[in-house]
Amino acid sequence: MGYAEVYAGWKADPEGFWLEAAKGIDWVEPPTKALNDSNAPLYEWFTDTKVNTCWNAVDRHVESGNGSRAAIIYDSPVTNQKRTITYAELQEKVASLAGGLAAKGVTKGDRVVIYMSMVPEALISMLACARLGAIHSVVFGGFASNELAVRIDDAAPKAIIATSCGIEPGRIVEYKPLLDEAINLSTRKPEFCVILQREQAPADLIEGRDCEWNAFQEGIAPAECVPVEGSHPAYILYTSGTTGQPKGVVRPTAGHLVVLNWTMKSIYGVEPGDVYWAASDVGWVVGHSYICYAPLIHGNTTIVFEGKPVGTPDAGTFWRVIDEHKVKVLFTAPTAFRAIKRQDPQAEFVGKYDISTLQTLFLAGERADPDTIEWAERVLGVPVIDHWWQTETGWSIAANPVGIEQLPVKIGSPSVAMPGWNMQILDEGGHPLPAGELGAIVAKLPLPPGTLPTLWNAEDRFKKSYLSQFPGYYETGDAGYMDEDGYLYIMARTDDVINVAGHRLSTGGMEEVLAAHPDVAECAVIGVTDELKGQLPLGFLCTNAGTTKSSEDIVKECVQLVRDKIGPVAAFKLAVVVDRLPKTRSGKILRGTMVKIADGEAYKMPATIDDPAILDEISEALQSLGYAGSA
Ligand code: COA
Ligand code: AMP
Repeated sequence: MGYAEVYAGWKADPEGFWLEAAKGIDWVEPPTKALNDSNAPLYEWFTDTKVNTCWNAVDRHVESGNGSRAAIIYDSPVTNQKRTITYAELQEKVASLAGGLAAKGVTKGDRVVIYMSMVPEALISMLACARLGAIHSVVFGGFASNELAVRIDDAAPKAIIATSCGIEPGRIVEYKPLLDEAINLSTRKPEFCVILQREQAPADLIEGRDCEWNAFQEGIAPAECVPVEGSHPAYILYTSGTTGQPKGVVRPTAGHLVVLNWTMKSIYGVEPGDVYWAASDVGWVVGHSYICYAPLIHGNTTIVFEGKPVGTPDAGTFWRVIDEHKVKVLFTAPTAFRAIKRQDPQAEFVGKYDISTLQTLFLAGERADPDTIEWAERVLGVPVIDHWWQTETGWSIAANPVGIEQLPVKIGSPSVAMPGWNMQILDEGGHPLPAGELGAIVAKLPLPPGTLPTLWNAEDRFKKSYLSQFPGYYETGDAGYMDEDGYLYIMARTDDVINVAGHRLSTGGMEEVLAAHPDVAECAVIGVTDELKGQLPLGFLCTNAGTTKSSEDIVKECVQLVRDKIGPVAAFKLAVVVDRLPKTRSGKILRGTMVKIADGEAYKMPATIDDPAILDEISEALQSLGYAGSA
């Protein structure tokens, strides 16, 4: 069956389609029904089931005789370590950690925050939570104390599992002091912490609160898998919205299992036993779905890579990993390839390795620019497949499903809607737009299994953010168009979210931090185009009258403030002091116009602008930073 038939089959009988896909999962109580629409427009899937995620990701493979198969290959060029963990070993490690957590009182429904670097223990922690029905919330290591504290307060975890440090090229980032500070700042203190000591920077433990990873598990009986209802949250993953308060995306257990298992064959084209590598971080949704859960649920070998595409030690690292571990599918963000291309434009490193096992490269996380796709295709000699999704969805909205049928690639498009997704392009009034016209990209409800049913502790925000603008549809927050063949083109966000090196960040959140600086009266943060990272945040600061500090000092302090409050991942390094910000007569800051000026694009003078002369001042300020066509 080709894509068109599979898609039409889903459309004709969504219930039958997902019940069929559900056969790939081991159930304690199998589904008799797929969709539960009793609470529309909030939908749930497989609510009449009982199931355990860890059983499906680990135990069942041991049970079926594949215990000696590699589950995780850890490859860490930053520590010069490599380690393989078989499914049988993984089962032992996960059951042991889960036993420790259970002995300390963690049970089904309790939250556990995980703040770890890219080590196999991060996956073991996630799976141990899943084994108990505890709800994990992984926080990316590049976030600082304040961001971690906000997430702790929202999730109210019983426990936190952390590594003592993370390793970035050229520096060791001590996580433990950041964790201690976050717990200090938070109002919902965890009962205990489990700390994995890394030899690069072991941490001081706080007696009575912190337990050392190994000692914590010693002499304790391993835990069995706890069956949970299909709609039980598997995890919460916080992602950036328009404000500094992140959105806690909830992932439902059963839909997550069914759909991820389905994608491995249908979208990525891999068979159980194949080596699958998502070069991302467990702190992001790509890491949740495609470093941890999907490959393990499907019985693949997943790679946990602790390094960067360049500089660890060179631009050939990716090819070495593919060669050494016989990687069949690589999934990463376009920015990683831009980084490699910049250092090794002739791809000389490729020739040093045997990458013949590589079948397909998948890109996601940000818009894939044609140059990067063409370069990757040329140097790797394999299909390069762009696919589009979000933290909220957990899997592809649009892709080229090579496991079903490889459709013609149209560069600049992540291809077509996957089964489960009925995509439309609407104008501001909610009317469908014809092919080729730019509008809001929306999905007709219900969303397919695995997608968010709601936001943690914030059902009203869920409805307001995603369901209210276009009743009957889920608003993706992306703008774009669809061509006559149903190929989608994702052009821009419709909100204040920017995408820096495939990382989703809130300019609103950065503005909140800047506004708290005592010398800043008003500010605006925009995303400017960057050749390597796609976008970079850039701040405009209006200072208080009478400040005695120099603009230079204020900028320096503001850059440090964002680094301290949000974290290095914000990559906030550009800011400039201006007298005033361009606004409409009603006081709305004209961020869109500022972006166009910064990127050197033509713009229309907004009819409602308060004082057009301000735009010249903005242009001058941007030129001082090397933007607005100054080059
Ligand atoms: N813990 C602590 N700090 C971290 C971190 C972590 N886990 N991850 C990143 N940081 C820090 C970095 O050290 C850097 O700090 P600096 O300002 O002192 O240099 C900052 O956060 C920005 O990190 P990053 O965005 O990774 O930029 P980079 O310049 O170090 O590397 C790329 C650029 C393109 C090589 C890198 O972003 C990359 O490989 N991205 C693609 C893959 C990816 O992870 N995509 C995510 C979604 S699929
Ligand atoms: P995140 O939730 O961090 O995965 O970010 C999701 C957002 O990243 C989407 O809403 C898009 O704006 C952007 N994005 C992800 N994948 C793509 C893609 N393939 N093409 C264009 N934009 C993408």
